[in-house]
Amino acid sequence: MDMPFLRGLIQYAQDNVLPFHTPGHKQGRGMYEPLREFLGRAAEYDVSDVLSSQKFNDSWSEALRAAEARAAEIFGARATRFMINGTTGAVHIMLIAARMHGFTHVVMPRSAHLSVYGGLLLADMQPVYVADGAVDGWQLSGPPDVTAYADAEVHLDHPESAVVLVTYPNYYGIGVDLVPLSERLKPQGRWLLVDEAHGPHFRFHPALPRPALEQGADLVAQSTHKVLGALTQASMLHVGSERVPLACVARADFWLQSTSPSALLLASLEAAGEQMAEAGEALWQQAIERAETAARRIESHAGMAVLRPEDVAPAYVMDPTRLVVRTADAGWSGVAAARRLREAGIQVEMADPWHIVALITWADDDETVSGLIAGLTNLAREKPDSAERPPAAAMPHRPVPKVRLRPREAALAPARRVPLREAIGHVSADVVCPYPPGIPILCPGEEIDGDIVEYLLHVHSSAFELRGTCDPDLSHIHIVQEGTCR
Ligand SMILES: Cc1ncc(COP(=O)(O)O)c(C=O)c1O
Repeated sequence: MDMPFLRGLIQYAQDNVLPFHTPGHKQGRGMYEPLREFLGRAAEYDVSDVLSSQKFNDSWSEALRAAEARAAEIFGARATRFMINGTTGAVHIMLIAARMHGFTHVVMPRSAHLSVYGGLLLADMQPVYVADGAVDGWQLSGPPDVTAYADAEVHLDHPESAVVLVTYPNYYGIGVDLVPLSERLKPQGRWLLVDEAHGPHFRFHPALPRPALEQGADLVAQSTHKVLGALTQASMLHVGSERVPLACVARADFWLQSTSPSALLLASLEAAGEQMAEAGEALWQQAIERAETAARRIESHAGMAVLRPEDVAPAYVMDPTRLVVRTADAGWSGVAAARRLREAGIQVEMADPWHIVALITWADDDETVSGLIAGLTNLAREKPDSAERPPAAAMPHRPVPKVRLRPREAALAPARRVPLREAIGHVSADVVCPYPPGIPILCPGEEIDGDIVEYLLHVHSSAFELRGTCDPDLSHIHIVQEGTCR
């Protein structure tokens, strides 16, 4: 309610201070008119390092620290830092902090988000991969079983030097119970890092999965902008336990964050937390009820199944506000369905060859939810042409590649561009990543084998946009030149 940071920005604009400082547009005065019109009053608050606050002696840093301390209280953390480079930045900081503390390896799902691989590269850590589990009867993979992390560690000479990183939940809203993991790691002095990009709302309603911080996670990265009310790119990094020295997080943060963080992004984080503190449970209650109504009606009117907790293994938990709709039940590939929905004025979060994923939040109302139901119902009445149908064959399992070099070693090594099939047997210097959901198929340091090449070509033909590679048509790829790495 207090919101010292946001209020300090408003006060600064009201104080009419003569601004001889960045940014050059000087609170919108000199801004190019179309942009000024686009931003409205927000331009006045786009300042750097200055605000007005009696309580904090006009100190931006002190007001910001107070806002972060309040966020820690709201989200149930020991300490919180605001992130202006998304959860990508938060994940990078988590891994660098772990490396500073002496950890060298990361036991992690191979299905981790791209940001984790960037973090490995920056922190020069070595991954130990864990394969995903399955969601029976659906063309979906689920997170690895918790026991799979311990199994993966048996090959490590020094498991005490390895942190565990978990994606909780995945893009489809599916997670695993983290308590067995945190209970196992705690006595070993090892950290549990959680990429909770899609779960910043979990704390605010008991019908949502339990937040990672309440399950013993040591560090948690959350995309406040993805599911709560912060501006795009604004995320939070939470420290959960006393085991993590705050100095490690501060030092890692210091190197990675901009020296001119956006006031708008930071203020939006403060406000998004406060909004949840004020009315989070009531707001999410509405969202959960609307998602439940939408699921029932999509199933009955459009004849498309919606993923429910009873569809996933008992070890899994599910976010009921994330609607995973199996458009394939009505003969539509998810990608084609998403395209058709867009033509009808409806944009979903993600699509794969069998499903679409739609987010319901407190910002929805009966009208928006009815629009989604009607869009899918109309689609189910149409006949897709052959290119709009889901693939006849099931998606092959994503191969878990062999790690031959540390990602950093391979990414920075001299590389050679070769035709894809000639790359078999070599080590990749490239990342190849379908987006969304941002899970790389191939990363620097991994061995390229025949299965991976076939999988890459399969994904490429399934209408996913591939990012990372210089040749998105996958004709060529960069490999590490033999003999250039030690
Ligand atoms: C599981 C997961 N982790 C991390 C990220 C990165 O988050 P951000 O977009 O906030 O940088 C994403 C983004 O889609 C994600 O899906």
